[in-house]
Amino acid sequence: LNHLETSAYGRSVDYYESVESTQPIAHDAAQAGVPDGTLIVAEEQTAGRGRLYRPWSSTARKGIWMSLVIRPTLTPQQAPQMTLVAAVAIVRAIEEVTGIEATIKWPNDILINGKKMTGILTELQADPDRVKAIIIGIGMNVNQEEDDFPDELQSIATSLKIATGQHIDRAKLITSILGYLEQYTKMYEKHGFGPIKLLWEGYSNTAGKRIRAVMLNETIEGTALGISDEGLLELQLDDGSVRGIYSADIQIQ
Ligand code: BTN
Repeated sequence: LNHLETSAYGRSVDYYESVESTQPIAHDAAQAGVPDGTLIVAEEQTAGRGRLYRPWSSTARKGIWMSLVIRPTLTPQQAPQMTLVAAVAIVRAIEEVTGIEATIKWPNDILINGKKMTGILTELQADPDRVKAIIIGIGMNVNQEEDDFPDELQSIATSLKIATGQHIDRAKLITSILGYLEQYTKMYEKHGFGPIKLLWEGYSNTAGKRIRAVMLNETIEGTALGISDEGLLELQLDDGSVRGIYSADIQIQ
């Protein structure tokens, strides 16, 4: 990461050739007290995981598989919104490095041409009143060809290489992501969620759309209005009432 412009993020990097998942390594590192901005990155994950413990395909050397340990001054209640902060940072970085405009599908997917290109997994280590560390796991499809994805993902996943036709320098992308992430995390600490929310809504493919939200024990339909200051998705149901949703799988109709 030669051209890093951050003060903390990515200043300490643990690089691995192959791991099961960078996420538990980052959790252990955080518990052991590593500094703010420590990055765990691997060329390959043999047991990468996504949200709700779904498997995450992490082909060797083709993508970015990394977990960042950060220690922002936020309350535990503000921590889940870091997923949205990271999403905005990643979209900006993709734009800077490739010129492509990706969109964000609430809460944690980044799409290109309607297919998933990046997933974000935010996890928290906290006391009731204090954040000790937030682990931001980022899985990014960069240089895969269609055939590199398992069959069941080929119709729903994409990579920057597929989208641009070009090989993309992963180190450049990581550098850019860390830069925007540090900048936007500072903005969030200082000014709250308002400015991030504005950026997020500009990149969102969800706001204004009719969607179906599939949750663990119910499925509801309505029109996505936007996100609340707490990062909840606000859904207007057909009876006119508005519900805030913490977590769901979203199908855009
Ligand atoms: C999702 O979309 O469900 C989130 C995917 C997160 C994948 C990343 S890759 C780096 C880190 N290590 C993991 O095992 N998962 C996250």
